[in-house]
Amino acid sequence: MSTSAYRDLGANPYRPWPARITSIIDLTEKEKLFELRLIDETVRDAFAFEAGQFVEVSVFGAGEAPISISSAPSKQGFIELCVRKTGDVTRALHARQCGDIVGLRGPFGRGFPFEEMKGHDILLVAGGLGIAPLKSLINHIHDERHDFGRVTILLGARNPGEILFRRQFDMWKHREDFDLIMTVDTPDATWDGEVGLVTKLFDRLEVDPAATYGAICGPPVMYRFVIEEMRKKNMDADHIYVSFERRMKCGIGKCGHCGLGHQYACIDGPVFNYWEAMNLQGAI
Ligand SMILES: Cc1cc2nc3c(=O)[nH]c(=O)nc-3n(C[C@H](O)[C@H](O)[C@H](O)COP(=O)(O)OP(=O)(O)OC[C@H]3O[C@@H](n4cnc5c(N)ncnc54)[C@H](O)[C@@H]3O)c2cc1C
Ligand code: FES
Repeated sequence: MSTSAYRDLGANPYRPWPARITSIIDLTEKEKLFELRLIDETVRDAFAFEAGQFVEVSVFGAGEAPISISSAPSKQGFIELCVRKTGDVTRALHARQCGDIVGLRGPFGRGFPFEEMKGHDILLVAGGLGIAPLKSLINHIHDERHDFGRVTILLGARNPGEILFRRQFDMWKHREDFDLIMTVDTPDATWDGEVGLVTKLFDRLEVDPAATYGAICGPPVMYRFVIEEMRKKNMDADHIYVSFERRMKCGIGKCGHCGLGHQYACIDGPVFNYWEAMNLQGAI
């Protein structure tokens, strides 16, 4: 639900809605994919989101954390969250079982401009856990594939064991409607793909700059270098979108924790175009 949906339902946006964990998949040693289903039918029906938005997930006794939605907006009735075990909340979530109840607030923030991207080529660049919000966009594009031109996905990870959604992406390598290239910093004996930073893949990339939208999500250090490569390909600053993770608490523009200059990442982002990001103090 957007904040306006909270208003329509007469609900307090600080109130977590109960959601049941309906599936848990181990993706890597540190990340699990959770499928959650809101229990209240009215709330479930009002819950519509955009690729790139996030929810605040709460685990009783541990607290609350912002997590990007990984599933496509077209899949209704449930959401998927790819969660890395880092601290109190995510550790408590990793200890939950199927059938357990957690709290959900959201969806919050501004997602990718899906409608504006239609009719264009798409270049998606993800590093590590950055694939979590981009996965929602990839799945959404997949569901409406005929509305897009060439779709290229560049995926970087530190090593093969850290590639998220590896099984799906291994299958996607052979698809003709998506150009997917994976690269790792440090290969192992099983790896027969690219080696090196994700930026290295730009050398052999052909981009039609006027016709292409880019989306980037990954560790903070990655943004500057990937944007540089996109700019070298003459892509417009307002066709390059980045998703920023800033420390967040309320998720609704009240507490001031996620300030970026004069804006708040939780309501004005987390997705910004590069033109906007350049004007945000401390963003890149
Ligand atoms: C919009 C948004 C979307 C996110 N999406 C995802 C997602 O899809 N999957 C996922 O696993 N995580 C995601 N995160 C990150 C997640 O919210 C944090 O890791 C969160 O702190 C986990 O809560 P915790 O209580 O387990 O860890 P904490 O105890 O809060 O923190 C653990 C460690 O991470 C550091 N930390 C906390 N928040 C951040 C941050 N924003 N950036 C850098 N370091 C931080 C802390 O200083 C501490 O060292 C997202 C964050 C934002 C703002
Ligand atoms: S998280 Fe509270 S203002 Fe953004």
